Amino acid sequence: MAVQTDRPAETTLRLLRGRRIAPSILSADFARLGAQVEEVLDAGARVIHVDVMDGHFVPPITFGAVIVDALADRVHGAGAILDVHLMIDRPERYVGDIARAGADSITIHIEATPHVHYTLSAIHEAGCAAGAAISPATPAASLDEIGHELLDLALCMSVNPGWGGQEFIPASLDKLGRMRRALPDHVALEVDGGVHEQTARSCVEAGANLLVTGSAVFGSADPAGAYAAIARAAGVA
Ligand code: DX5
Ligand code: ZN
Repeated sequence: MAVQTDRPAETTLRLLRGRRIAPSILSADFARLGAQVEEVLDAGARVIHVDVMDGHFVPPITFGAVIVDALADRVHGAGAILDVHLMIDRPERYVGDIARAGADSITIHIEATPHVHYTLSAIHEAGCAAGAAISPATPAASLDEIGHELLDLALCMSVNPGWGGQEFIPASLDKLGRMRRALPDHVALEVDGGVHEQTARSCVEAGANLLVTGSAVFGSADPAGAYAAIARAAGVA
């Protein structure tokens, strides 16, 4: 098992705070997951997004700590990080397992637990950056009451969580702007769902710095080329 403490938190925070495209493995070909991740790492990706789903918080079941562990050495070896998005009920139960498997940042949904503060603290104690996600129907202002010292990242879902390949919800742009204005500068703003070459630029203009892209990258016959095209559209250096 990869040990979290050998990942300096500063590297994680630097990577989360820059303008980046974060390919989501949800749409990858799982029969060749390692090779697919390598392809986007070679194309320049430094944040790999991992969508954990439990069949309760969202209907589908995907994967958990085993896949984080399987990817950790390869991703860390490339100087990249694993950005784990937990779409699971009561995420506090799994923070330890996911961190020990090699996650660098762990994002929970505030709709999934009555213990948001406790869970974010537990993520920090496990040595990871802590994120809070909100689904489209959850007001941006829900994050206002979370102590910003507990938060490294805010994630705005721009589709309803659970599936790749959905249409970007246009109202997300205004919501991203409101979130960016309400959050201190040190908190990264991630957008997730329906991000592709045509929607990436407006997400950046609205204030997002971390853009998750699943089907637009791994649904393409050329993931590296698709990654590069979205990065160009988003103005990623
Ligand atoms: C959906 C996941 C996303 C998903 C995005 O619930 O959180 O990360 O992979 O997929 P696309 O980019 O296809 O909308
Ligand atoms: Zn996600």
